[in-house]
Amino acid sequence: MEILTSKAQLAEALQELRQTNKTIGFVPTMGALHAGHMTLIKIAGELTDVVVASIFVNPTQFNNSDDLQKYPRPVESDIKLLQQSKCNILFLPEVDEMYTGEESWNLDLGYLENTLEGKFRPGHYQGVTQIVKKLLDIANPDFVFLGQKDFQQVMVLEHMVKALELPSELVMCPIVRDDDGLALSSRNVHLSRTERQQALSLSKALFYVQKHFDLLTINQLKENAWLMLDSEPGVVPEYFEICDADTLLPTPSKDTRSIIALVAAKVGETRLIDNIILK
Ligand code: PAJ
Repeated sequence: MEILTSKAQLAEALQELRQTNKTIGFVPTMGALHAGHMTLIKIAGELTDVVVASIFVNPTQFNNSDDLQKYPRPVESDIKLLQQSKCNILFLPEVDEMYTGEESWNLDLGYLENTLEGKFRPGHYQGVTQIVKKLLDIANPDFVFLGQKDFQQVMVLEHMVKALELPSELVMCPIVRDDDGLALSSRNVHLSRTERQQALSLSKALFYVQKHFDLLTINQLKENAWLMLDSEPGVVPEYFEICDADTLLPTPSKDTRSIIALVAAKVGETRLIDNIILK
C-alpha cells in the first residue's frame, strides 16, 4: 500500500492508473478505523480495480470544538489495518494540504440541511460536502463507498453529486454492528463500560420498531421507542424519527415505498447515531 500525503501525488498516481483503464474506488474516512470502515474497503476491493482510502479528520464538519479535539487519531494502527486489507493507496493529508484558510463554501442542501443531524449539528453537512467535493476533485473515482450508518450523509452526498453533476457513483454499504447490536463507531472508544451497556438502548429501540412495524401506528412506534431511550439512565435522546427513506420527511404513511427509523442520543458525553431500514 502506498501512503500519499499531497494532493499532487494522489492526482498523479491515479492519472497513471486511469490511463490503464483501471476503475477506482474511493473510501473517505476520518480514521480510528473499525470493522465498519474495513467492510467498505472490502466491498470496494470486490467492485473496483484500485482502492483508495483517505484518513482526514475534517475540522469544518465539527460543530463542537471539544468533539474535534477529542476525536481519536490512532494513525499507526490504522495504517497497519489498511496494510492487511485490499486498500492500494492511503491518502493521509495534513489540514493545510486540504484548506488554505481562504476558501468559502455554501451548497444548497434544501430540506436535508436542517432536519435530523442537520438540525442538531448546524453546519455539519456544509463541512462534509466541502471536504468530500475537494477529495472527489483530486481522486475523481468511479465509485465512492459510504456506510448506511450515516444515512443522511449518503443522501446529502447523493444530492451534491446530482446538483454539481459529479461523475462518481455512490455505493451505500450496510451497517456493521457488534454482536450485541451496537453499531460500530469511532466514537465508541469514548464509552465507559456502563455507558457501552446504556448505548445498546439505541439499537434496541430500532429493533423494537422493526419488530412491531406491522402491529402499531408510526406515531405509537415513535413514542414507544422514545420512551425506551428516555428511560435508560445516562441516555439523553435527541431524536427518534421514522421517515420516508427517499426524502427523510417524517411520519410517512405505511404505504410509502421505503421507510427508515433514525436515532441520535447522547450517552454520557458521547453522541451516537444509528438507523434501520424498515421497508
Ligand atoms: P467516518 O465517520 O470515519 O466514516 C467513514 C465511512 O465509514 C462513512 O461512510 C461511514 O458511514 C462509514 N461507517 C462508519 N461506521 C460504520 C458502520 N458501523 N458500518 C458501516 N459503515 C460505517 O463519515 C465520515 O467519516 C466523514 O463524514 C467523511 C465522509 C469521511 C467526510 O469527512
